[in-house]
Amino acid sequence: MNSSEYDTILWQKLEEELKKRITRGEVMDHTLWEAMEYSLLAGGKRIRPMLLMMTGRSLGASDELLMPFACALEMIHTYSLIHDDLPAMDNDDYRRGRLTNHKVYGGAAAILAGDGLLNLAFETMADTVSRQKQPENMAKAAAAMSYIAACAGPKGMIAGQIADMESENRRLDLSELTYIEFNKTSRLLMAAMKGGAVLAGAEKPVVDNLELSAGKTGLAFQIQDDILDVEGTLETLGKMPDSDSKSAKSTFVSLYGLENAKKQVESLTKEALSLLNGLPGDEGQKVRDLVESLSHREH
Ligand code: IPE
Ligand code: IPE
Ligand code: MG
Ligand code: MG
Ligand code: MG
Repeated sequence: MNSSEYDTILWQKLEEELKKRITRGEVMDHTLWEAMEYSLLAGGKRIRPMLLMMTGRSLGASDELLMPFACALEMIHTYSLIHDDLPAMDNDDYRRGRLTNHKVYGGAAAILAGDGLLNLAFETMADTVSRQKQPENMAKAAAAMSYIAACAGPKGMIAGQIADMESENRRLDLSELTYIEFNKTSRLLMAAMKGGAVLAGAEKPVVDNLELSAGKTGLAFQIQDDILDVEGTLETLGKMPDSDSKSAKSTFVSLYGLENAKKQVESLTKEALSLLNGLPGDEGQKVRDLVESLSHREH
């Protein structure tokens, strides 16, 4: 089985698990659940849960322990996208190839669908912690939940999002831009890669290396996103290009130009990969392959 076949299997498994977790019997008819499902099952790339699963597997964690955290992380990411698209934030009309959540369900339902996904993510992780029979696994699960919470929270992704909003119509310097991109995007990739390692009970140096690598992968990922905002189309991206220039955001591209941005993606990716050298087995190779492929993604 080659690596891309295997990735497809993991991707499908994630789709099934997400679907299972968003189904709530008769309350499915309710607008809130419909709106949550609309965005969660719209077919994102699932980069973060894939990285969490592959990293955790590489270091010996079971799928049973990893999967709920992978799903929770995708719920958190999806909520961040629903809110990111709101008129009060980036005011975008398309996401994942469909109209944005607020365009279909209205602003109030979109805010609540985001809140719903965020809370469902924490319910999913907390249930998994409390279900562990072995104290050792319970401790790993609790530590992973705490780390993911910190990455997603007001000292992590949310800090990046507010700084991003407050930076509109202003020319940033490199350290301000890096602060924004690191927090709004690297943090959830750190949650994925370090989260998987924490669930596996990996040694501190391994965990630290993964965190560092994910930080660089996230910066490369966001700069590539900024490049695609200039070079992509609605058809290839599933979201509108030119969103950044319309809201007068400083990005690596607007400040330093496309060519420098591309070079930066390449060099950050190299640094990220060199920190992943020791990740064992086929699953370790899959993590490296995925990180490498992100640097030339077209959507
Ligand atoms: C989009 O993330 C937001 C950024 C952090 C750039 P993705 O590019 O992973 O979006 P989906 O999940 O595939 O829709
Ligand atoms: C958003 O960055 C990152 C999030 C935390 C949601 P962007 O605003 O650039 O993401 P897109 O381009 O809308 O996906
Ligand atoms: Mg944004
Ligand atoms: Mg946006
Ligand atoms: Mg963007």
